[in-house]
Amino acid sequence: MDPDSVQGADAEEAAYTAAADAILNAARVVAVTGAGISVESGIPDFRSAGGLWSKYPPEDYATIEAFYDDPDKVWELWYELAETLKDVQPNPGHRALAELEQMGRLSVVVTQNIDALHHAAGNTSVIEYHGRADTLYCPACRRRRPLDLSQRALGAPRCVCGGYMKPDVVLFGELIPTTALHLADSLARNCGVMIIVGTSATVYPAAGLPFIAKENGAFIIECNTESTQFTETITDIFLQGPAGETLPRLVEKVRNR
Ligand code: APR
Repeated sequence: MDPDSVQGADAEEAAYTAAADAILNAARVVAVTGAGISVESGIPDFRSAGGLWSKYPPEDYATIEAFYDDPDKVWELWYELAETLKDVQPNPGHRALAELEQMGRLSVVVTQNIDALHHAAGNTSVIEYHGRADTLYCPACRRRRPLDLSQRALGAPRCVCGGYMKPDVVLFGELIPTTALHLADSLARNCGVMIIVGTSATVYPAAGLPFIAKENGAFIIECNTESTQFTETITDIFLQGPAGETLPRLVEKVRNR
């Protein structure tokens, strides 16, 4: 190993040690996750090359206006995503966050993801900031029911009230559910450490949570394959790499300290 790589390896190990110590010394740790944590489960993210938005432009498939204009077209994306999601499993990154909760070292996961994989991995305290894709919601009468993929050929699902049902996710142009919005904001203001995993930091208000945490004194740990607008501004420790590798390594360090 050449000296630079030895130095690099030592610096990397020191970063994991410092991140683990921050977690062990914090009264409350909050994780904020994005699509990147689910990429290793086989779910494409939105904005990386080949991401969902390159095939389904959000302005045509993921806005509330598009849903009201052409629900059948919008449902092309959401049925395809639901087909992808029905067989996916949590990956080591999800399982690492579940272990961190079981160790009593993670209070909550605020996720932008709609794949329910944090629940599947075993986290019990999860705020689904953008909803979840396996449930239907009727904007007319506010009924909810599970999505039934066997009805895909019929196009946009209908409610018993006669209205079209939308995926129970926050489409562009919709508000974040009030409870999720205020609870996540309060947790960001009152955490000692925030772990940001696999988000491009481009969609608000979710992307504002790390800034709120930093302004209120939190130590910021970021796990991503690439740097983001957080990395050079508020991130204290950047653990670069796939979440399926960085998070298990971090949690092992917490477990063994
Ligand atoms: N491990 C860690 N990070 C990864 C991995 C991985 N294996 N693969 C990709 N990433 C990173 C990318 O570098 C990028 O920064 O994950 C991030 C994914 O960014 P986006 O695709 O923009 O997803 P996200 O940040 O969750 O989008 C936020 O935008 O479109 C809306 O509602 C949608 O919830 C979504 C929101």
